[in-house]
Amino acid sequence: MSNKNPIGLFDSGIGGTSIWKEVHALLPHENTVYLADSKNAPYGKKTKQEIVDLCFKNVDFLLAQNCKLIVVACNTATTNAIKEMREKYDVPFIGIEPAIKPAANKTETQTIGILATKGTLNSELFNRQVENYSNVRIMEQVGYGLVELIENGKIETEEMRNLLKLYLRPMVEAGMDYLVLGCSHYPYLIPEIKKIIPSTVKIIDSGEAVARQTKSILEDNGLINSSKEKGKTIFYTNSDASVLKNILGFSENVFEKDF
Ligand code: DGL
Repeated sequence: MSNKNPIGLFDSGIGGTSIWKEVHALLPHENTVYLADSKNAPYGKKTKQEIVDLCFKNVDFLLAQNCKLIVVACNTATTNAIKEMREKYDVPFIGIEPAIKPAANKTETQTIGILATKGTLNSELFNRQVENYSNVRIMEQVGYGLVELIENGKIETEEMRNLLKLYLRPMVEAGMDYLVLGCSHYPYLIPEIKKIIPSTVKIIDSGEAVARQTKSILEDNGLINSSKEKGKTIFYTNSDASVLKNILGFSENVFEKDF
């Protein structure tokens, strides 16, 4: 395995680019390959076995590109399939999980909100994590429809605002002071979310923590790319590339590919 080999990242779609941005900002010399499985989005509605099978397909693709480490840039995939991926493959995996811990430790109102997919909120991994914070009121809300709108490029729309109001207002009324974004698509909703919740409510996502963890695992395994050149990135999507290009804000090295 060469240190110049890329880091592979995948998500059910374009949302995991929010994680890619953090990884790329912290590790600018690393080469990366990003896979958007948009054809199969949303994962959040699928069964555990369906999610595991899709993850295996994505990992096989990334390993065929010689990836040295895989970032599962999807909470739904991590909470349902990281164990199975780690058992099947030798490469190191970094997963992403809703950041309940920092929110539960810092809340002053003892009330936090979490917005995530049904697949994440129903997973065993997530529910085990929640059990550690029985002293805090954790208001769980499935973000029905949000990923579909994001995947269709409909972020700044009336439809999106109405759904967000429906999901967030009860949390605000209950006095939440931390909102955890438990889906890698949701950081793209922050400007819309801020229009609905008071400025005193802090929004937490896990992107930066995933990037720090990626760096530390690369260091531990002697896999850091010591090149001084900017890393190369390739993005693949099995759906319409224009939505991916739009969310990235550039179109170089973004390709449609059936996988
Ligand atoms: N971006 C994903 C997550 O972090 C999944 C969205 C979905 O496909 O349902 O959970």
